[in-house]
Amino acid sequence: MPGPTDKRIDALLSLLVENPTIVISGAQIAKEIGVRRQTVWRWIETLRASGVKVKGHPRTGYHIERAPDILAPKLLARQIHGTPFAKRIFHFFKTDSTNTVAMRLGEDGEAHGTIVVAEEQTAGRGRAGHSWISEKSAGIYVSILLRPQISPMLAPALTLAAGLAARDAIAEETASSPDIRWPNDVLLNGKKVCGILTEMHAEPDRIHFAVAGIGINVNQTKMPAELAAIATALRIETGRVHSRLETLARLLRHLDRYYNQFVAEGAAPILRRFAEVSSYFEGKRVRITTSTETFTGTTAGLEPMGILRVKRDDGKIESVISGAVTEAE
Ligand code: BTN
Repeated sequence: MPGPTDKRIDALLSLLVENPTIVISGAQIAKEIGVRRQTVWRWIETLRASGVKVKGHPRTGYHIERAPDILAPKLLARQIHGTPFAKRIFHFFKTDSTNTVAMRLGEDGEAHGTIVVAEEQTAGRGRAGHSWISEKSAGIYVSILLRPQISPMLAPALTLAAGLAARDAIAEETASSPDIRWPNDVLLNGKKVCGILTEMHAEPDRIHFAVAGIGINVNQTKMPAELAAIATALRIETGRVHSRLETLARLLRHLDRYYNQFVAEGAAPILRRFAEVSSYFEGKRVRITTSTETFTGTTAGLEPMGILRVKRDDGKIESVISGAVTEAE
């Protein structure tokens, strides 16, 4: 698997984006970013392969045809300036799973707020052993490394906070009011557009670090046949192309806000917000599948740490710590 994107490719991209109307010669670019002209040419080809419309050739010079929607660290950092996520951004044109990379970075001691983004994942992971289809440059595939000083008991609320951030970002981007299916699937018109896989390294009383891995279907034009009834993308729902860079920036700004609120005030405001925006909070008929059983019931709010309460059809109240939730008739 190729490593993270060379910082100088990032610099090249910024140079082209910042000077959209100017033709910059290969020699000038080479001088500016400190590589040989042949290298510039090779990198331009890399950018072209990722869908960046670069016009021209080494002798006449290069310019960008239209602003590329690439999750380039320098461009992203500018949009999320002032948040802890702007400091360390690892970008990959292709990787197996951003969560796998972020977990490894966590073990290596990388700082709180480090993020890993990819244009494409070859082994994107979902919850309960599912895979996450990660078509090149169509979706957002991002993992955020967090080092909260909290007990693992509070981790479910952290998971909810990530879902709320994704929900608010999608709401702004589509000017609509997406739903959240507990714990953190974001739904547009009843279909899933965003999934979150939270993984942790923890001791019984302390979280070493957590990784919130977020996948958003943005510009896919159709879903695989087997998923079309239950999954969708922003573009499919709104009929227009969305900026992945802008959507990701919105997501990270909202995550910063919810995370700070969670650290300062605990889980309560997160739970209140969930109750406001999720139709799954209370009174929803659901089918729950855990590792040991499947049952139906009606949702009955959240416990103080964010665990879902479900009133079974026989009247017994069940606390669902983890499991698949679907709407039942
Ligand atoms: C789910 O709903 O099952 C969770 C899906 C999580 C997908 C994201 S994409 C970025 C990050 N890297 C992964 O391998 N998975 C998460």
